[in-house]
This record gives sequence, C-alpha cells and structure tokens, in this order.
Amino acid sequence: MSQAKQHVHDFWNHASCGEELYLSDRDREGYAAQATARYTLEPYILEFASFSQASGQRVLEIGVGLGADHQRFAEAGAVLSGIDLTERAVEHSRRRLAAFDLTSDLAVGDAENLAFSDEIFDVVYSWGVLHHSPDTPRAVAEVWRVLKRGGHAKIMIYHKWSMIGFMLWLRYALLAFKPWMTLTEVYSRYLESPGTKAYSVSEARKLFAAFGEVKIQTVLTHGDLLESDAGQRHQGRLLDLARKLWPRWFIRRVLPNAGLFMLIEARK
Ligand SMILES: C[S@@+](CC[C@H](N)C(=O)[O-])C[C@H]1O[C@@H](n2cnc3c(N)ncnc32)[C@H](O)[C@@H]1O
Repeated sequence: MSQAKQHVHDFWNHASCGEELYLSDRDREGYAAQATARYTLEPYILEFASFSQASGQRVLEIGVGLGADHQRFAEAGAVLSGIDLTERAVEHSRRRLAAFDLTSDLAVGDAENLAFSDEIFDVVYSWGVLHHSPDTPRAVAEVWRVLKRGGHAKIMIYHKWSMIGFMLWLRYALLAFKPWMTLTEVYSRYLESPGTKAYSVSEARKLFAAFGEVKIQTVLTHGDLLESDAGQRHQGRLLDLARKLWPRWFIRRVLPNAGLFMLIEARK
C-alpha cells in the first residue's frame, strides 16, 4: 500500500465514519439507532440509493463504513458484495448484518484495485468514499470495469464549491493568516482523511466521461447548514458561535447549489 493510502487507511481504521458521533453500542440497537440518525440527517440518501429497486440485482458497495446503507441493500434482497479499505469497517458491517440475520460477501478491499471480474455488477454504489482514495480516476475506472453494460454507478463525492469548503477556508486559511491557501489544499488537510479531494461539477463530468449517461446534482447538507455536529474532526467555540449566527435561510434561498455532497448517477 502506498504511504498516502496507508494514511487514509489509518485515519478510517481509527474510527469509522459516524462511529464517534452516532454509534453508542456495537449491537442491533446501537446500529439501528445509528441508521435512524443517519437517515434523519441525510434523508436524500434514501432516494438516491433507491434501495428497494436493488431486489435481485448484483450490487457492489465500495466503502461500506458502519454498514447502514449496506444493511438496506441486503434487506431489499440484493445479491450483495461490499468492500472497505479498513478492517474496522468490514468488522462493523459483518457484525451489523449478522445482528439482523442478513448476508453479504464482505471483504477488505481497495477501490483502486477491485478483486472482481469485468462486467458483473448491475449497480455499484459508493457514498463518500472515492474522493478519499489517492487515485480517484483509477477508482472510477474500476467502477466502470466491473459494471455490466447498462449497469448503474451511484456515487457521492465531495463538491468543491460548498459552504463547508468556505468555512474550512475561513478557519484554516484566512483566520490563520494564510489567505493564499487554496480550497484544494484546505480540503486535503482539514476536512477528513489526509488527501481528501473535492470536485467542481465540470471536473466530475470529466471523471465520469467514459460513462454513457451522467446525471449530477449537489445537495446542501446538515454540515453546510451547521445543523448538526460538524464531524469527528471539528469542534470548538468558534464553531459553536458560527452555529448560532449561521444564515441558514439565506444559504437555502440564495446558495442552494453550495452543498458538499455531489450525487452522481452514471450508466455504463
Ligand atoms: C467517509 S467514510 C464513508 C463510509 C460509508 N460509505 C458512509 O457513508 O458512512 C469513507 C470510507 O471509505 C473507505 N475508503 C477510503 N479509501 C478507500 C479505498 N481506496 N477503497 C475502499 N474503501 C476506501 C474508508 O475506509 C471509509 O470507511
């Protein structure tokens, strides 16, 4: 594993996404409560993933994390495989599915080198993962390779021109007297795992250029609107103050496209 990827692995193997904020216990009740919190904060996942349509389909999820979405695919009756770079996430997802008497072919794996043959999946789903991998174009090429002709990729990656990006830039560039620091560097150093990337819509279109049909939308998230705990890395008085003063109404009305999440549906 390259050093850059090892850093990504170590970051997420310390705590899976949402584990510190939303997972109280590693049992059926704990995982159920985490899923409730997840879909309350991020209701758009349900429509985007359209879990119920996966019945009988061969689905690969890349970057399962705590496994909430994976559980939904399993409940829908998908013929399911899931991978994550970290042992921790695979262990969580195995434990979660076992607690609900569900099954999936889960393994530690790398989005950039998928251990699957060409053209075997109807759906490849990945929420908030591929931008963490050092070679994102290679990971997207792997998604394309393992999809059947006519199969669908449903991928969320981060959108560069977001309120979260703006807040991080204020905090770590402007207020740190380094206004020359680019948004790319800010995301890479301060958002989540080291090297995290965010894309403009046109950059994302280039990333998915090999696909036949590509639909892209951005979503204003609870993080952009400061409606929740900001994430496992971000806390403090400045953030508490911003939470009180944040112009949510204005952002919703005037900047509806300034959300961190970019939802990409692409057909091979
Ligand atoms: C922000 S979490 C998202 C997890 C889950 N999809 C969710 O929405 O909660 C990012 C996940 O991507 C995984 N990841 C990062 N790089 C990866 C790679 N190259 N291959 C597979 N998984 C990767 C991490 O281990 C971590 O579990």
